[in-house]
Amino acid sequence: MRQPIIAGNWKMNKIKQEARELAQSIVRGFIAGLPLPEVVLCPPFTALEAVGGVISGTEIELGAQNAFWESQGAYTGEISPNMLLTVGCKYVILGHSERRKYFSESDQVVNKKIKAVIHAGLCPILCVGERLGEREEGRTEAVVGEQVRGALDGLSQSELKTLVIAYEPIWAIGTGKTATPQQAGEVHSFIRGLISDLYDEELSEKLRIIYGGSVKAENAGDLFNQPQIDGGLVGGASLQAESFLKIINLYPMGD
Ligand code: 13P
Repeated sequence: MRQPIIAGNWKMNKIKQEARELAQSIVRGFIAGLPLPEVVLCPPFTALEAVGGVISGTEIELGAQNAFWESQGAYTGEISPNMLLTVGCKYVILGHSERRKYFSESDQVVNKKIKAVIHAGLCPILCVGERLGEREEGRTEAVVGEQVRGALDGLSQSELKTLVIAYEPIWAIGTGKTATPQQAGEVHSFIRGLISDLYDEELSEKLRIIYGGSVKAENAGDLFNQPQIDGGLVGGASLQAESFLKIINLYPMGD
């Protein structure tokens, strides 16, 4: 059985004080001890320590939104995996479509970052997903397949034990358009099959594949009911405690 995981990607939102308050509200509303999904908060770098302080001692985990592949040195503006570890991070989002788009991150760059993050002992959340035009041309599997292969190139099965893959169709991010549970389920099945081909069935069955793109309390239940969907990577709806908690709380109720 795969433990579901729900991560809130706060993107470039919330100054430190706002981040602390949001984390406090989430902690207050979080019902510990229930068979909840694993919950991860991914604030901006400047709020990691503050949010880490609020969630320390709870079951909620801390994640970053990016990391560089070198461990230290003359790389102005970058943050190393080890630096993230020292402020309490367990997860790192890598290859988000916004980083691919605005910072030209290629699969090769994502691959270097995944290796560095895994070797530092952090768990990568690898984001993949197609553009609308690519879906319309019937190229979704080709695009997602290339992203997965590129990102994992040279990594062995034992190195991928903590990997999480987030399928985030670009046309669904921040647009209010969600992939239907069936559309998402199909791509998740494709990714699981690819991991089975590249590695083996054991790894593919253990791999958590989560969905991202306009996840809200209103649509999350149907998405999470898909056997291939192991949770969500939530953007906008994670910026308010109430909507984020509603999404988390869909799990213990069974749907
Ligand atoms: P939205 O939930 O705002 O569409 O963002 C999704 C996302 O990009 C999460 O990483």
